[in-house]
Order: sequence, then structure tokens, then C-alpha cells
Amino acid sequence: MRARYLAGVNPARLPRVAERVVVVGSGIAGLFTALRLAEAGPVTVLTKQRLADSNTELAQGGIAAAIGKSDSPELHLQDTLAAGDGLCDLAAVEALVHEGPARVLELAALGVQFDRGQEGFALTREGAHSRRRILHAHGDATGDEIRRGLEEQVRRHPQITLLEDHFALDVVTEPGRRVAGVTALRPDGGVVFFTSPFVILATGGAGQLYRTSTNPEVATGDGVAIAFRAGAAVADMEFIQFHPTALALEGSPKFLISEAVRGEGALLLNARGERFMPGYDPRGELAPRDVVARAIAREMASTGAGHVWLDARPIGEAFPQRFPTIFAACRERGLDPLREPIPVAPAAHYAMGGVLTDTWGRTTLPGLFACGETACTGLHGANRLASNSLVEGLVFGQRIADFIRRVEAGGPPSPSSGFEAASPPESDDGHLPHRWLQPAWPASAGQARQPSQALAEPERQPPEEPLEPGRLWAQTQDLMWRRAGIVRNREDLEQAWAEMAGLAELAATAELGAGREALELANLTLVGALVARSALERRESRGAHFREDHPRRDDEHWLHHIVQRREESGL
Ligand code: SIN
Repeated sequence: MRARYLAGVNPARLPRVAERVVVVGSGIAGLFTALRLAEAGPVTVLTKQRLADSNTELAQGGIAAAIGKSDSPELHLQDTLAAGDGLCDLAAVEALVHEGPARVLELAALGVQFDRGQEGFALTREGAHSRRRILHAHGDATGDEIRRGLEEQVRRHPQITLLEDHFALDVVTEPGRRVAGVTALRPDGGVVFFTSPFVILATGGAGQLYRTSTNPEVATGDGVAIAFRAGAAVADMEFIQFHPTALALEGSPKFLISEAVRGEGALLLNARGERFMPGYDPRGELAPRDVVARAIAREMASTGAGHVWLDARPIGEAFPQRFPTIFAACRERGLDPLREPIPVAPAAHYAMGGVLTDTWGRTTLPGLFACGETACTGLHGANRLASNSLVEGLVFGQRIADFIRRVEAGGPPSPSSGFEAASPPESDDGHLPHRWLQPAWPASAGQARQPSQALAEPERQPPEEPLEPGRLWAQTQDLMWRRAGIVRNREDLEQAWAEMAGLAELAATAELGAGREALELANLTLVGALVARSALERRESRGAHFREDHPRRDDEHWLHHIVQRREESGL
């Protein structure tokens, strides 16, 4: 097992700053949690770059909430469960669908301006939603507007200290595994130990694991790596969602073409100009994302083309107004969506797995919480329903704040909205094992299982070369794309697991002086190894995880979550 702390930083020797609570990350989950916690006292937010550098900023389609006249939380629940392909945690889904509408209205009350139509909020549709229930802002600039609204509140809040360019290194634990705080690299190169009884990891996802991704450069899986090194359980790591439609132009950075474009009528065409989705799924272009991404991958493979086409011409002249960001991005690249189809291909988009939490955001370490894409509440199961992630940050951010505030006040926490999706925990001490980890938890609700012993120790293939972050980064992305991507098989995954374990071992030797890129690589490769191992272990196809050697869903053997912990992993 490698060193407990990144770059061998010893917290005992660091300067200390005492905090009430530290939030790591500045996307919707981190900022909303911070705002709610700040109602009761000071909060420190660490973010490794600028506040705006997050996946939230890039979100286009919108935020899902059952607020339409013909909609209901029950319908939203059914759609979420169907997309999750049998592996959703019901309590987490119930929390989301029942509490989501109130949280979204609170976000609007905080100043986020969602688009409106004649009957209130304008609602669009995305894949696998049975109703129009996606709120959006400035057409397709929803994330930018949410970031703007939250940033305005956070920057002027007297109780919030925002520390940009502070890269969180590790969560520090006391004997007994209670959290003691978090260490961070400051912009001047010094390291500081923020001592705190509560740390919330909201660092987003790990899209940088893949050569082609819709995620920003900062999405390097830091929160999952930090939690794993500290001994927290991580779960469902094999489930990586690939967005079907990223702009595919040679030499141009990937740019998301929102699913809402298909929701408003755009069609997918193959290299021969034929519409192909109805041949794969009766829901056509609005089938769940995993289905559409795999269909596109298959069409690309069968025609040898590097992309398919998204024909947005059926949307007509409304396109520039409804999708101003996408329209401008296409025009900048010499494309005119009003007159020609847009070249698109799948790209890594979202990690359903992450740090295992209960419905109060609690991880398996007392005092450590995770929220948003960093967390695995079980809400998304094997495949996230489109636009469920922004609202997830609000719902579970509120719950984390509620929990911490009740613990601070000395009483058992209760939900703010009156909807009780799970029994409120009694206190933050004597932390019970997560219910997925309890043998009595019914298998149909998704029990946990560790990877088999045979996989615990890989045939490591540590590269011979010295640590060159830029090159190893590209090697990681290429390896994960080719061997642990949209379509997987045993041979590829064995190779991915062995190579990623080796790369993770090498990257973990990075020293502080090597800079942030090298330290991020240590996190990224560790998360890559966790993904590859879970994917190798799950010998079935479910949701976003497709094994061509086990192409069917197998509820008899695999209706459970794969949970990994450092002490049992050898990583
Ligand atoms: C999109 O606009 O297609 C992305 C929405 C999401 O990933 O939830």
C-alpha cells in the first residue's frame, strides 16, 4: 500500500488554521452547501483554480425538477429509476424528486434567472424523461447563470471565506478515523493544515480520465482520491457516463451539444445520412444516454467515420435563440446549424460512482461528507438521468448543511423540507456502517460487495520511465479511452487495471515541488485504477457499463454495488 498522504506531506509539521467547516470545491454542490452552512456560522471554501472553473459552469441542458402541471415527483422517480437500470438507491431518489422542486425554487429566489414562458418557468425535455421538466437559463447557458447567481451570493457573504488557487491535498484523520481537517497547497507553494471537525468534498468528477471528455481540465477526481486515501469507501466506480453528442471537429477541444437539442427535435444521422436511432430503441434520439452513445459508437465503427451527424435543422429558425451558446460555438468553428448537420461523437461526461455516502452526505468516515459528482449516494444507479446532477448538488448540499447544523446544536438532524427519505442519524459519532455494507440490507435494494481477492493485487506494470506528468496524463487518457471506455471486455480491462495500477504507483511518487499537475495526476491515476478494477469485476452489462463479453444485465448475480476501500485494495 502506498503512502497515506500525497507527496508525503506530514500534517503534524504544518502551520494550522482552525475552521468551523471546510468545503472543498466551487461547483453548485460546494457553493450551495457553503451558503446553507453559512446561515449558522463561518465557512471556508477551498477551490483549486478560480471559482468558475467547474463542470457547473459548463452545464447547458438544465436542472430537472417536477414542477410542470402534468408532472409529479412520482413520474420523476420512475424515470430516474428506469435510467439507473436497477441499481438506484430508492431513498436517495425519493429525496431528490421530493425535495428538488423546493431547492430549485430557492435557487431562483437567490437570484438565478431561469428562462420563463407563458405559464411560468420554461421547461424542456431530455433523453429518458417522460415529461418536460428541465429548467434552463439564457437558452443553453444554465450552468453559467447558476454559477453567476451563486458566486454573487458567496462573494458577498460575510461568513464565507473563499480561497481560490488552494489545492486540497488530503483529509487528515485522527485515531478512530474521525476527520481532523484537510491539508492544502497554497498559491505561494506553502502547505497549510485547515483543522476542522467537518470536511465536505465537492470537487466534481474525473472526466480528465478520458481522451475525449466534456469536462473542464480541473475534473481530475481529486475528491474521490482524497477520500480513498483517507480510508473512506468508494462505490460504483465502473459506471462512467458517455454523453452521446460532443462536437467532433479535428483539432478542436470537445464542446458539449446539449441533449436538449435532441429534446427540441434534432435527429441523429450516420455517415450515409440515414437516421439510425429508431433501429436501436423505440425512443429514438431520446433513449437513455448509454443506449444512444453505444448506438453512435456502433454506427461510427460500422461506417469507419470519426463522427455521426446531429441534424438540428428540424428546430428551424428558433435554434440561435434557444441555443445561443451552441450556435455561437458552431459559428466560431465555421459551422451553420441552420443549414448543415453538426458532426458529433460520444465523450466521457459524468461519473455515477464516487465516495460512498448515505442520504445525508455522510461518508464512512465520521466528519467527512461528499456532495455532487464526487459522491455516490446511489441516486444515479448505473446511469444518471439527464439534468439530475445540478439538482443533486442542491438537495444533498442542503441535507449536509442540515445534518451538520443539527449536530452542532446537539440534537438529531431532521430534513428541512419535511420529507423524510431515511431515518435521521442520531449523531455524527458512533457512525454506523453504511446500509449497503450491512449484511441484512436486502439484496434487491443493492447490497455491496468488494472486488474479489483475485483482483486485489494486480500484475502491476509500472512504467520504466521517470515521472513526466504531461506524457503520463496522455497515456492515462488514451488507455482509459481504449480499454475502459464505452464498450469493454475482460482482456482490455485486465490490461487497463494492470497498467493503471502501475501508473498510479508511479504517479504517487510525485513530490510537492513537482507542481499541481503532477499531484493531480496522482489523483487521476488512482481513480482510473479504481474505475478499471470495478469494471473488470462487474461481469454483466448494466446502464453505462457495457461488457461485450457479458452483454446482458444479470440481476441474479450483480444486483449490488461494488465498494472499494484502501485497506483491502492494495492501492
Ligand atoms: C446536456 O445538456 O446534454 C447535459 C445535461 C446533463 O448532463 O445532465
